[in-house]
Amino acid sequence: MKLPIIIVNFKLYEQATGDNAIELAKIHERVAKETGADLAIAVNPIDLARVCDAVSIPVFAQHIDPIKFGGHTGHISPDLVKEVGAYGTLLNHAEYPMGHETIMKSIERCRDVGLFTVLCADTPETAKEFVKYNPDLIAVEPPELIGGDISVSKAGPHIIENAVKMVGENRILVGAGIRDPEDVTIALSLGAVGVLLASGVTKAADPYLVLQGLVAGLKKG
Ligand code: G3P
Repeated sequence: MKLPIIIVNFKLYEQATGDNAIELAKIHERVAKETGADLAIAVNPIDLARVCDAVSIPVFAQHIDPIKFGGHTGHISPDLVKEVGAYGTLLNHAEYPMGHETIMKSIERCRDVGLFTVLCADTPETAKEFVKYNPDLIAVEPPELIGGDISVSKAGPHIIENAVKMVGENRILVGAGIRDPEDVTIALSLGAVGVLLASGVTKAADPYLVLQGLVAGLKKG
């Protein structure tokens, strides 16, 4: 996976799960191939294996548990996530918060099995605290802007600047409300190395067109 990157989190949107997840994943793959841009997706655990088989772009899990094989009913195994072909995993998403101890152990397990980690943080200050756990990337997403119409790029450019200043170059993704090319260009111009978004693509009438626009923003950034 190269930077800059656009990661689209399919969450549990109906438009992005089951058969729709396969279709949407293929649209991402098509845009990646046509534009040469790096696009990755994060899919529901039930869809993960099927999506990994269907496309060649990097596929992320949305969460893993810091466990090994054994008596762990209902948990998400990093070993199996790797085995089905996932590239990495999101951790500590605002919609699936984890304690510090769990975050630390999860990153260790991911490193053991070879999964790339994108650790989510609500603020630049939290992102700075997370540096000690050494995730591959930290995605800063102000929770109040998630799923809304105003992007972190437009409502909180200082958040992006601060996160990059506090954490360092080549480590920060930003997300929340990202939906147009300008959002991506602003984020990159402030030092982020990519964006994490969901509803702007998953709920779009034409995800192909939206993705092409986001990629254009990536190239300008
Ligand atoms: O994981 C991405 C997400 O939390 C941002 O969601 O819908 O604001 O792009 P959205």
